[in-house]
Amino acid sequence: MADTLTIRRPDDWHLHLRDGAMLAAVLPESARHFARALVMPNLLPPVVTAAQAAAYRSRILAALPEGMEFTPLMTLYLTEESDPEDVAAAARDGLIAAVKLYPAGATTNSASGVRDFGRIRPVLERMAETGLPLCVHGEVTDSSVDIFDREAVFLERVLEPIRRATPGLRVVLEHVTTAEGVDYVKSGGENIAATITAHHLTINRNHMLAGGIRPHYYCLPVAKREAHRLALLEAATSGHPRFFLGTDSAPHTDAAKLAPCGCAGCFTAPNALSILAELFGQAGALARLEAFTSLNGAAFYRLAPNEETITLQRGAPVIHPARIDTAEGPVTVFDPGFPLHWSVTP
Ligand code: NCD
Ligand code: ZN
Repeated sequence: MADTLTIRRPDDWHLHLRDGAMLAAVLPESARHFARALVMPNLLPPVVTAAQAAAYRSRILAALPEGMEFTPLMTLYLTEESDPEDVAAAARDGLIAAVKLYPAGATTNSASGVRDFGRIRPVLERMAETGLPLCVHGEVTDSSVDIFDREAVFLERVLEPIRRATPGLRVVLEHVTTAEGVDYVKSGGENIAATITAHHLTINRNHMLAGGIRPHYYCLPVAKREAHRLALLEAATSGHPRFFLGTDSAPHTDAAKLAPCGCAGCFTAPNALSILAELFGQAGALARLEAFTSLNGAAFYRLAPNEETITLQRGAPVIHPARIDTAEGPVTVFDPGFPLHWSVTP
């Protein structure tokens, strides 16, 4: 196996940067490795309007340490009240790269999400005209649907009807976790793509639940059984152009994770690339890592790939810090549970 690998600088097509002290602490962890990231809008209150996205973008750039380069690509949080004209203007001005659909109640800070999908029709039609992608959190929130089935049911009950009703709508199925999701994207034509996280390529639900409950492996959508992880790994390492990296790095403090009702989210910004290099190496697919991290996403978002490069180097196991300190408290870094031999040099 080669010991060094130089690839175009990666982009992260699904990232939670939060705000305030947490933003200041986690932003360098992404900016160190990634040129651009699609920044999720699930703040409290959410980033709904173009004006809110512009203000959030300014706060991100202000928090970026001197000498680091990083481009935040903004998203708007879709609500039943979203104004199609505000969305279209934000896209035209280059302020936003996508709109994010959270079914109400699906995940962290999603209370303002969509309940009645009929009410977002005008926005979706406008997006289909302009080519602006809709990023979807693909889980139903119906309490009668088992949490492990919520993605597969979403495809049938929500996503397929939306796509049929809105021809031309470009969709990214975010953090896909199931074989059903992978198949849906593969067979869905050029207007649908999916992001895949490093943690869903690493763990299955046994890692989270067998031999003791591991709150740091709890995220949404929840990790599924091993057959699904293998389907994700195949999709990611195959070079298929409509699968690309979105880390969904989602920092929560240890106090918020290690609680009777702990928050969902894995913090992978510091080691996502080391994990991916390890997994692609094991799969004999290092030659396709660049497509997954640095080419496919940019192509789907109709942006040029980054010109700069990073070099991954293979050596003795790299020790990543177990946690980072923030003014809100420590945040634990995702532990893949196997040694990581690849480190990133800028
Ligand atoms: C995310 C968060 O914490 O904001 N959590 C997660 O488990 N992925 C929200 C999300 O993307 O679902
Ligand atoms: Zn997310």
